[in-house]
Amino acid sequence: MSQTGFDLGLDIVRVAEDAAIAAHGWIGKGDEKAADQAAVDAMRSALNALEMDGRIVIGEGERDDAPMLFIGENVGTGKGPAIDIALDPLEGTTLAAKAMNNALTVVAFAPRGGLLHAPDTYMDKIAIGPGYPDGVVDLDASPEDNVRALAAAKGVDVSEIVACVLDRPRHDRIIASLRKAGARVHLITDGDVAGVFHTAQPETGIDIYLGLGGAPEGVLAAAALKCVGGQFQGRLVFRNDDERQRAQRLGLTDYDRKYSLNELVSSDVVFVATGVTPGALLDGVQKEMSADGQVFISTESLVMISRTQTIRKLYMRRPLQS
Ligand code: FBP
Repeated sequence: MSQTGFDLGLDIVRVAEDAAIAAHGWIGKGDEKAADQAAVDAMRSALNALEMDGRIVIGEGERDDAPMLFIGENVGTGKGPAIDIALDPLEGTTLAAKAMNNALTVVAFAPRGGLLHAPDTYMDKIAIGPGYPDGVVDLDASPEDNVRALAAAKGVDVSEIVACVLDRPRHDRIIASLRKAGARVHLITDGDVAGVFHTAQPETGIDIYLGLGGAPEGVLAAAALKCVGGQFQGRLVFRNDDERQRAQRLGLTDYDRKYSLNELVSSDVVFVATGVTPGALLDGVQKEMSADGQVFISTESLVMISRTQTIRKLYMRRPLQS
């Protein structure tokens, strides 16, 4: 990973792998908090083993709400490069608790100052994959206009455009607008980091992502897209003054600002994700037992480097105990 300006080696993958393995123990048990906590604990101890002066800028909330991996927490050995870290130890807590597809662990590393310090609020998002002219879609345009413009740029009828949207009542108008234009709507129950990234995976058939999701997930999704190309815009959405104050504490004062991908992730970034449950992005954690009774655990991870636009998929298998 030295091309990125910092070299944390393969150990960065272990950060996501360990969290996924820990969360895997809680799949299908209906306990979102326990699954999340297991992932947080595992991710924290793997992060602390890394030779870096690490600082969490996108984490599990503020210090008061989250005993672990809170925004501003220092991680790593304290020696080595100054790194800012965005993470979601379990992206899709409900998916994991209900043993549904597409739960992930996600972490992004950037040189200090490279990631927007986003508060734990909502973000209005729009994303498309690589290959389109700049500005072909815009957060301030209507969903209808966006899918029409995208269809024209792709050279297809709008009925061939597939829009991914989180299945929430707050998105009823977006969904109606998309369908009115003739586009197809792919609804997901959770997990919009993967939802955004699917726009850069032609095999998913998804062309555009639209709607409100978590702001931390927005920065993580932008980090993922930065590694493969594509466009992303996001605007923070505040439900009350407390959320506005959270933004203010992080130095954000223009509450209506529309952030481009390069404003959310302004430097090189390394993005790592490991599948917890199987999904369109990655396989989930798997356990198997050999004939002599030894239990092995395997994971699949994605490691992407923005500077070189490199994508690696890594399969890991080891005895469960180590
Ligand atoms: P968690 O893993 O924190 O539960 O987030 C899952 C998720 O679906 C995100 O991918 C998305 O950004 C957010 O929740 C949407 O929030 P809400 O469930 O409140 O609509």
